[in-house]
Amino acid sequence: MIAGDDAAPEVVHPTVDVLRLLVPDIRFVEAPGGREASESYGDAFPDETRKAIDAAACTLFGASGGPSRPILWYLRWGKETYVNVRPVRWCPGYRSPMLHPRHIDYVIVRDNLEGMYPPREGDIAELGALASSRSWWQAHPAEKRGAYALRICTDEQMYRLAVAACELALFRQAADYPGRVTLGAKYSIMPRTDGRLRTIVAETVRTYSSLSYQEFLIDDLARRLIASPETLDVVVLSNEHGDILADVASGSIGGLGLSPSGCFGERYAYFEPVHGSAPDLAGKGIINPTAMLLSGAMMLAYLGYTEQALGLERAIEQVYREGVSLNRDQGGSASTMEFVEAVVESVVSMK
Ligand code: NAD
Ligand code: IPM
Ligand code: MN
Repeated sequence: MIAGDDAAPEVVHPTVDVLRLLVPDIRFVEAPGGREASESYGDAFPDETRKAIDAAACTLFGASGGPSRPILWYLRWGKETYVNVRPVRWCPGYRSPMLHPRHIDYVIVRDNLEGMYPPREGDIAELGALASSRSWWQAHPAEKRGAYALRICTDEQMYRLAVAACELALFRQAADYPGRVTLGAKYSIMPRTDGRLRTIVAETVRTYSSLSYQEFLIDDLARRLIASPETLDVVVLSNEHGDILADVASGSIGGLGLSPSGCFGERYAYFEPVHGSAPDLAGKGIINPTAMLLSGAMMLAYLGYTEQALGLERAIEQVYREGVSLNRDQGGSASTMEFVEAVVESVVSMK
């Protein structure tokens, strides 16, 4: 476990306590990172932390507000956790701004390694060598002052992203979801990158006879997240599109306090909420721990503790249904710890 920056430790620590209660067999190792590690080890990402990550079955990560960013970099690119799974599900009691949030229940499957992140930026003069920029109507940009950013899309990454989406759709289909993979991308304007992603995802879905496929330009898909979320099941997105639309999707169910995620690779996985380090809430004891707890539930499922994962989700749902211990972002007045205590009571009452 790596607590992260700003308000993140306030949700990670109680989450570990809840997970311990559910599965006493899991041995948690807290590895230092961020500002405190800088102060005591002279390094925000000490070797010992990298070794702890490597030695663990997986990592539970709070969020980076800057100081812990090298750790997030390592968890994604160092451990090649190539797909980021971000479930979007409304539950009764979530403070959604939507009129009919009842049917919001889909999963964003996001490229976690390529596209625009990590940044590969440079001076615009270097673009003089790029043949395709010659066809622009305006003056060649290499003659101007400025910068550019590169977007990388390898076939290997797009294929494994597509396969991950199909496998997830298949898994959900067994639980009565429609088995529908939706691609959102700017394939009309970016034929070699998003166009290629479109071809690869469409082709891959075709190899799964029980799955169906639909595609929308990314701007239209953004509208559909709000206008017709009930038509979505598994949504495949590039890194930057997924980053942005995951927050939109989170807003539609009631906010960042509610949205978990898991990042999966061939040999490693790590779990973190969709939200960041919420610096505006740090030290106040009011940050909503739901996203972190649900990320913990995803971790339990990954480790094979399916029943306990489900138990934790059901306990959280019960607290929202009762609606008496909700945090401020959900219209209540409970502190972080009061919410966690309600979840613990609910876990215990269900045992
Ligand atoms: P943020 O997600 O931290 O916060 C956005 C807004 O949502 C804030 O008003 C915050 O108070 C609220 N919020 C977030 N989580 C909440 C929760 N659990 N309960 C209640 N309210 C919550 O995004 P930001 O402010 O744009 O970024 C802060 C820092 O986090 C930046 O340094 C950013 O780079 C980083 N970040 C890190 C990650 C990550 O580590 N995976 C993800 C997103 C942002
Ligand atoms: C997220 C965050 C990260 C991302 C940042 C901190 C690199 O916004 O996990 O959504 O863009 O992936
Ligand atoms: Mn983000």
